[in-house]
Amino acid sequence: MTPKYRVVVVGMGKRGLHHAAAFQANPRFQVVGVCDTDESRLAAAAAKTGTAISGTNARDVAMAARADVFCFCTMPHLRSQMIRIGIDSGARLIAMEKPVALNSAEGFAVRSLAHGSGVKVVVSHQHRYGEHYQKTKEIIASGALGRVHTVYATATGWMMHMLSHLIDYARWFNDEAPAEWVMAQAAGRGKLADAHPSPDYIGGFVQFANGVRGILECGAGAPDVPEVDYWWRKCRIGAQGTDGFAEVLTGGGWRAVTKSGSWSGGGCMNYDLDMPPYIQQIADWLDDDAKVHPCNFASAYAGFEIMMALCRSVANGGQVALPLTDAADEMRMLRESLPDRPVLLSMAANAKEYPTAQQAKAG
Ligand SMILES: NC(=O)c1ccc[n+]([C@@H]2O[C@H](COP(=O)([O-])OP(=O)(O)OC[C@H]3O[C@@H](n4cnc5c(N)ncnc54)[C@H](O)[C@@H]3O)[C@@H](O)[C@H]2O)c1
Repeated sequence: MTPKYRVVVVGMGKRGLHHAAAFQANPRFQVVGVCDTDESRLAAAAAKTGTAISGTNARDVAMAARADVFCFCTMPHLRSQMIRIGIDSGARLIAMEKPVALNSAEGFAVRSLAHGSGVKVVVSHQHRYGEHYQKTKEIIASGALGRVHTVYATATGWMMHMLSHLIDYARWFNDEAPAEWVMAQAAGRGKLADAHPSPDYIGGFVQFANGVRGILECGAGAPDVPEVDYWWRKCRIGAQGTDGFAEVLTGGGWRAVTKSGSWSGGGCMNYDLDMPPYIQQIADWLDDDAKVHPCNFASAYAGFEIMMALCRSVANGGQVALPLTDAADEMRMLRESLPDRPVLLSMAANAKEYPTAQQAKAG
């Protein structure tokens, strides 16, 4: 019988529980340790997973378990220290949540730890496993759009939550071509203090090396996707070519128009459906170095650099060349430069999530 890969999961909130459940449900894995600083969450997770090893200190749990996979699903301010724990514990693969980091200085640290250790790293951009994402990718890759000249992505959720996803899927639709430069603008300071710190609204352009233009919009001013009811899933990601377009709505299926006609189909982002293939491909990569996970760190990092470069463009103006060569704290740059004016909303439904805009409107 093939031995199971042993897994430690740190951060037993929403995503940690998703990961633990998906690892447990896959016959190739066994969750052997769980960790959370919150005692009650830890107790509930330990009972649910039935693991022998549990604790509130990630290093202690990881060193006791010495697992094959170190998975952490903590909030975005904890990244390089978790990667270091995973490496020190002897893990062969680290599975982490997006975003890669909150600034490029931290992103550089994460990258150099990952490269220096040789440990495989995957970042959870798992929406791509949705049938509607897969169908959109299939149509784009088939050549039915002719020469693809534009990829685009919008979401009404804010940057540190959503832009990491948007860029990842737009890059995927563009065959992961490297980005050469970006240029961006942003508005609204309300979410700078959030645990996912962000400008309330950011929009920008990406020049990809294959000549394709990327157009990205994320936050309070991004357009509605009226076909989708659930606010967090009002995301539209697609590609346009000389012969048509294909796009996915995170909460509302897919559609395409090409020279041969128009089509649409269903599909909605669903953790229960998206996590199993994401987890299975972790086993595949552990089994075989050639089966590199689609959500591998190098790919996620390329998207992260685009996000940080967009922030630098907001702060400093003009175009920002990629790859980034110097480390910076882009959230500090935004705090120092974003005008103190409330963001203007694209629709009333955004007011609930952007209260500073709402107050400004009422006043
Ligand atoms: N991929 C996706 O679709 C998706 C969806 C939602 C959130 N996320 C990302 O997942 C991450 C976690 O989000 P969440 O919604 O699960 O958050 P959460 O707040 O529900 O869970 C985080 C958990 O980490 C614990 N924690 C904090 N510090 C810790 C430490 N030092 N050691 C151990 N545990 C610690 C907290 O007590 C909490 O239980 C974020 O980076 C977020 O952006 C990704």
